[in-house]
Amino acid sequence: MSLDSLIRSKVLNGKRTVAIVCNQFGDTGKGKFIDLLSTWADVIARGTGGANAGHTIKIGGVEHIFHLIPSGILHDKDGKYNIIGRGVVLDPRVVVEELDLLDKAGLSYDLLRLSMNAKLVLPQHIVIDRVREAKTGKEIGTTGRGIGPCYEDQTGRRGLTLNDILNRDIFVRKLKRNLAHYNTVLSALDPDMQNTKKIMEHEHLANGAYFSQTRRFDLDAIVEMYTAVYAGRIGSMITDVEARLRDFAGKKKILLEGAQGYLLSVDYGFHPYVTSSDASIEGLAKGVGLRVQDADLVLGIVKAPYMTRVGAGPFPTEYGGERSEKHCQGEGMTLDREQALYPDNALNHDDEFLRGIAIRKAGSEKGATTGRPRRVGRLDLPLLRYAAQTNGNKVILTKLDVFDESDAIEICKAYVYKGPAYRMGKYTLKQGHILFCAPQDPEILKHSIPIYGKLPGWKQKTSDIKTYAALPQKMRDLVEYIERKAKVEVVMISLGPEREQTIVRGGIGSD
Ligand code: IMP
Repeated sequence: MSLDSLIRSKVLNGKRTVAIVCNQFGDTGKGKFIDLLSTWADVIARGTGGANAGHTIKIGGVEHIFHLIPSGILHDKDGKYNIIGRGVVLDPRVVVEELDLLDKAGLSYDLLRLSMNAKLVLPQHIVIDRVREAKTGKEIGTTGRGIGPCYEDQTGRRGLTLNDILNRDIFVRKLKRNLAHYNTVLSALDPDMQNTKKIMEHEHLANGAYFSQTRRFDLDAIVEMYTAVYAGRIGSMITDVEARLRDFAGKKKILLEGAQGYLLSVDYGFHPYVTSSDASIEGLAKGVGLRVQDADLVLGIVKAPYMTRVGAGPFPTEYGGERSEKHCQGEGMTLDREQALYPDNALNHDDEFLRGIAIRKAGSEKGATTGRPRRVGRLDLPLLRYAAQTNGNKVILTKLDVFDESDAIEICKAYVYKGPAYRMGKYTLKQGHILFCAPQDPEILKHSIPIYGKLPGWKQKTSDIKTYAALPQKMRDLVEYIERKAKVEVVMISLGPEREQTIVRGGIGSD
């Protein structure tokens, strides 16, 4: 049976709306599964995040990183809708750049539709995002794409929507009001405008075209670019996509494409080390105008037996702890540079910092949007149990092959709290307390010391194996250990970036 038919019969059988979300900090390999399931779907829709996300699309053998347009766009030619929903913060510059790439490759995007209610990313969002990060020494480590400020404008009731670019007068009125806010904030943060000017010279901000020496932001330049240039290019794609999706629900096959990961969700993550949208299934469904119960299958992707995070924030199982965090955040650090600096790194090295570097290389773990080395740690079951509470218990494990040469596998089963006495309402958390599910509080998480279970490695190349039964027994033991300990069901396993490097599971013990 072909992989496609296997997935249809064992995973998608009878389903109408299927969602792919990430149960960790993002970068777990959603793109591969969106691609795999795109052949099944009639509609592929994104509902959260913005150009902070990144997925690789191969065009004519060349890899391109796309940030906004769903990975399903390569199936436009087969009559599939690709939709960006209202929950997305949409930077038209990025969409136009991605359309240019598709044009160059001769690929169609006739059925690309953009929500009229998507939140509009404006130059001031990118400026304030970068000014704030520079001021705080990259406290959050954002991607600098204006994501947080754009979502803040929604709750602050001063935001613009994508549809506004089609109505020049309304756009100007709303923009003036919005800029008044940012001019006030920036006059305190950057009174001499030096940072603003420098940031605005970036190509993401039209190489300085939006900068005004007298008014900081050149309103006319922004209006012209958004309501003439961008509106001319993408205006015909803007529509009420939510109404269309509600109409499709239950009739057409809908694939919901998550962005980022549950642990970065503004609602479920660990403040302030989060992105600004709800990356859970709840945010995703809402972000395309559907209800959570419209999704009849939610697949949560889990990297195993390691995991990664980009940017700052607690990461209890990190290989090399604080040293690794500082190293990965270091200015200009890249995978090549760290290989040159630490050539003796190895998967079985005694020094876990060096083990981390080897994992990063084996898994090619660098940020798709930022190019930063991703921080790596052991699979953390308290975090997985936490994510499964919202995203459900069906999971896909990815990248297990990265550990093919590893002697032993460590998995975090629980934490022991080692911080100072900590008041939680009436209760006081004390040293020695065991935690099985991650608490949503970075103050607790940063003092949570992992308790590891150790399993033997399988020491065998696995990337060519096609069935669950043919996997090394020790790898199957690991999969079933994760299922038992985290109370999840592993539906598929990925053993490499290619489509065929995928194992479909039909339930424990069978395939
Ligand atoms: P922002 O989304 O740019 O505001 O960044 C907030 C945090 O989310 C930072 O720690 C980023 O590194 C992280 N983040 C945002 N998007 C992604 C992603 O697609 N993968 C991994 N981390 C991300």
